[in-house]
Amino acid sequence: MHCDRINAYFCVHREHTMQWQPLSSDSKTAFEEALMFKPFRLIWEGRSICVTRLEDGFFGIHNLCPHAGAQLHHGHCNKKGVVSCPLHGYKFDLKTGRSADGNNYQMARYQFKIENDVLYIGFR
Ligand code: FES
Repeated sequence: MHCDRINAYFCVHREHTMQWQPLSSDSKTAFEEALMFKPFRLIWEGRSICVTRLEDGFFGIHNLCPHAGAQLHHGHCNKKGVVSCPLHGYKFDLKTGRSADGNNYQMARYQFKIENDVLYIGFR
């Protein structure tokens, strides 16, 4: 199916733009041990990602805060999947990658799934 949206961040056909890659079994252990709503860091292909287990799966965003570079995985995640930066408190939605406080930032975002006992990262 052709996607008629130019920017993949706003694509309504999300399944058509997501690419999936398997992660190492080391990474899978971190996911298995992850606590609900407790952010942790994943390093993948040189990217630092803030990952959090929510009620409907794992979601991640770029780990460095666009405001002044703090590591978001040291912040707090609420039950709506909004991570607060530990330095100045800016808020980011893990599912959309967008600011949740009107600051107008758009972060790279990631999804995760397990199929046949293999953990995959999804990205656009
Ligand atoms: S560094 Fe994140 S809000 Fe300032």
